[in-house]
Amino acid sequence: AAIVEHSFDVRNLTVTRLCREQVITAVNGSLPGPTIHVQEGDTLVVHVYNKSPYNLTIHWHGIFQILSAWADGPDMVTQCPIRPGTKYTYKFKITQQEGTLWWHAHVSWLRATVYGALIIRPRSGHSYPFPKPDKEVPIILGEWWNANVVDVENQALASGGGPNNSDAYTINGMPGNLYPCSQTQTYKLNVEKGKTYLLRIINAALNNQLFYKVANHKLTVVGVDAEYTKPYVTDVVVIAPGQTADVLLTADQPVGSYYMAAHPYASQPAIPFDNTTTRGIIVYDGATSSAPIMPVLPAFNDTPTAHKFYSNLTGLKDGPNWVPVPLHVDKHMFITVGLGLDRCRINGTCQGANGQRFSASMNNASFMFPTSLSMLQAFFFNVNGIYTADFPNKPPVKFDYTNANVSNDLSLLFAPKSTSVTKLKFNATVEMVLQNTALIAIENHPMHLHGFNFHVLAQGFGNYNPKRDIKKYNLVNPQRRNTIAVPVGGWAVIRFQANNPGVWFMHCHLDVHMPWGLATAFVVENGPTPATRLPPPPHDLPQC
Ligand code: C2O
Repeated sequence: AAIVEHSFDVRNLTVTRLCREQVITAVNGSLPGPTIHVQEGDTLVVHVYNKSPYNLTIHWHGIFQILSAWADGPDMVTQCPIRPGTKYTYKFKITQQEGTLWWHAHVSWLRATVYGALIIRPRSGHSYPFPKPDKEVPIILGEWWNANVVDVENQALASGGGPNNSDAYTINGMPGNLYPCSQTQTYKLNVEKGKTYLLRIINAALNNQLFYKVANHKLTVVGVDAEYTKPYVTDVVVIAPGQTADVLLTADQPVGSYYMAAHPYASQPAIPFDNTTTRGIIVYDGATSSAPIMPVLPAFNDTPTAHKFYSNLTGLKDGPNWVPVPLHVDKHMFITVGLGLDRCRINGTCQGANGQRFSASMNNASFMFPTSLSMLQAFFFNVNGIYTADFPNKPPVKFDYTNANVSNDLSLLFAPKSTSVTKLKFNATVEMVLQNTALIAIENHPMHLHGFNFHVLAQGFGNYNPKRDIKKYNLVNPQRRNTIAVPVGGWAVIRFQANNPGVWFMHCHLDVHMPWGLATAFVVENGPTPATRLPPPPHDLPQC
């Protein structure tokens, strides 16, 4: 195992997209930022120099951070931000996971331009559980604004409404030639007939799930969220913000040019989206310059296609890093997730209709970040008053599982602000039913858990019904992941073992929902032995 060291120089720079110049915050002068390559078992050290005008943190999305919670990165959860002009070194070991993950800023909306791939290959002497691809290619899907993204977010929060739509989707930072002035900003992949390519697809978009497709080619999914899956052949990949998908593409079609394309999956346009499509070109060696073939993407609201993709994925039982489903459950949680309204009692006034603005909650608790100390510091140094360990196990409404409208219960509309978290004993197994509500909008919330991967036992539409739905649990070979797209107007059941002490954030990965409060955290206590206790913070941990 090696020590892999990187320096991130984060600063503002001017780039040109969609016919205009725009100042963005970026890492090492590039968009996306650098791709990090490690092998399972390596230690990654990243020196982050914040030369931007904003507070910054970097999160290593999906990394387990075993005994290294200080390096996880969510602002005010595991650290105070890296102030402009200062630095912090993230150091952690990467074990028990292989595949595609990514890193991104975890403060305000900076992750719109501060992101990159993190690729974990098997350690030397180990191989993939599928035929070795001839080449590996990161495909990072993103979202682009013709505006400063921090301003876009602040405007949305101040107005109480939704944010402005982005102006383009991107592939590896490039909008593609359906957008104005983007002919030369179209991602291009050269392939050789007969060869196989591992596409490491990452959805780094802020607020939209995406459909991704390659014209005329089948895709074989072999991993999601850095967990191997049983190979699954499909012609469309559905990917929510935060998720990754490793797919094999064999250049088995007639020599020619083919587009890859992505556009939103939005069950209903409650999440703003701009209706447009990003695309890149796959060119076979020896192809003549005829017009590339364009794939037909599913309709924006094609929920059956999205559900088919997600519910057909299974884990690669007994494959590398496979973890069997824990069969004993210590803590059962039933959690509503969804949007609501806020009467602005906290800030006094807001400009939304009737003095209201959008808000969001989990079990009627609308999460608020602490401001004076990070939650992890409060945990480690036993400081009171930063969070309370009283997150409700159940929503305050009585769920009539047979009544399809209960997730409309209006008592969940105005959720109080809260800093409540769930305390877990070391190694406790948690089962969570995540139930989407339908108060303001019926939509699909990609829920991301830091620090752990969970098994996805079942998912479905309408209200979760324990008697009926427990029979659908896959306890044999479920997919394991770090982000679950809870189906629109539906539910998902996940299970994980809290085998890592620290404070672990859980939130909707639609960036607009997080500041509205669609978040909570788990505080996992130290274990009994020195090897199961969180070490003290690194000396350069930023202070508030
Ligand atoms: Cu990818 Cu808490 O984030």
